[in-house]
Amino acid sequence: MLKITFNGHANFHFTDGRSHLLIDPWFTGNPSAKGRPFDYDQIDLILLTHGHRDHLGDAIDISKKYQAPIAAPFELAMFCQRRGASVAQMNHGGKLGFDFCTAKMVNAVHSSAFVDKGAEYTGNPCGYIIEMGGKKVYFTGDTALFGDMKLYGELEKPEIMILPIGGVFTMGPEDAALAVGMVAPKFAIPMHFGTFEILEQSADSFAKALLGSKTEAVALAPGQSATF
Ligand code: NI
Ligand code: MN
Repeated sequence: MLKITFNGHANFHFTDGRSHLLIDPWFTGNPSAKGRPFDYDQIDLILLTHGHRDHLGDAIDISKKYQAPIAAPFELAMFCQRRGASVAQMNHGGKLGFDFCTAKMVNAVHSSAFVDKGAEYTGNPCGYIIEMGGKKVYFTGDTALFGDMKLYGELEKPEIMILPIGGVFTMGPEDAALAVGMVAPKFAIPMHFGTFEILEQSADSFAKALLGSKTEAVALAPGQSATF
């Protein structure tokens, strides 16, 4: 069993009923956030896809509070470690095993830096293939459409794909529907839409594009969960 909760934007919580994983946990300042960073009794692991603020979010504070390691592209992990977080080092192509899940880091076509007054390099952006609760999930991270998604679909056969549909900074609904077609999961959960005015405001056109395909769109509102 894997229960996936959408916390808004690209922020997701996974639990198998015993262990707790957060991905890109942006709560503070997230206009679509449901929940707060310290709402949890327990967090066991945090996965980060890249160093942009809307993904790094509250990860460092959450790591400190729960003694939860952050797995991230190497330079981003070091960035977090310098700020007091515990980290699990890895990089693209690598797979880490934890006692309740595995996470394989895969490519994403995007950019990555912690942008403040300047921009601090935080490695290359990534996605993850996550196995937890007997399910396999392809979490693409912020990305454009790219051809190797087809390879991930063929090699990994994920049941669930979580992908951005908002456009402007990532794939929009049409490219996202093509990405789903290449990976062919049973379920596709859209993310990275509706948070800002500039992004696609609903998942309707994405869901419509999947009608008649072998994949069911599971559009979650912030705060909603789905159990697989
Ligand atoms: Ni980004
Ligand atoms: Mn983003």
